[in-house]
Amino acid sequence: MQKAIYPGSFDPLHNGHLDVIGRAARLCDSVVVAIAANASKNALLSTAERIDIIKNATAHLPEVSVTEFEGLLVDFVIEQKADCIIRGLRAISDFEYEFQMALMNRQLRSTVETIFLMPSQEYIYLSSRIIKEIAATGNDVRDFISEKAAVAVEKKLALKKK
Ligand code: PNS
Repeated sequence: MQKAIYPGSFDPLHNGHLDVIGRAARLCDSVVVAIAANASKNALLSTAERIDIIKNATAHLPEVSVTEFEGLLVDFVIEQKADCIIRGLRAISDFEYEFQMALMNRQLRSTVETIFLMPSQEYIYLSSRIIKEIAATGNDVRDFISEKAAVAVEKKLALKKK
């Protein structure tokens, strides 16, 4: 495998995402972590903040770059001349949504394949939504996300409360 796109909302990036990125980086020559700008209307963090957090967390991985994209993922994959899409699969509950997306993407552009990677089992329970819920109650989320991400999330939640 040469070039992979790892798309998502990453609002914020958590340790499970990072685990999948590490696995993809071992398999592929290059991995583009791609934030879907149009899927982010209700995001807590801005795209720039999310890019900054991901760049910081993946600085030790030279194969990894970070960007945003607009429009259809399959068009971005083709524009980037990438070989595949990477998605993480945590549990059976992810499967239906992921299966639907992968098949729709294949229907739209038959050459675009999706590869599923499972994060280490210690991260299976992580989701950005739940992490934001925990942070919103004033609890520390540094076990699940980087210091930089935690500071950004706490700052945004504090601003929202005002
Ligand atoms: O982290 P998420 O929110 O589960 O990621 C979902 C994402 C961004 C991969 C998906 O919403 C997406 O690909 N959006 C781009 C628009 C698109 O191509 N939609 C059709 C998907 S079948």
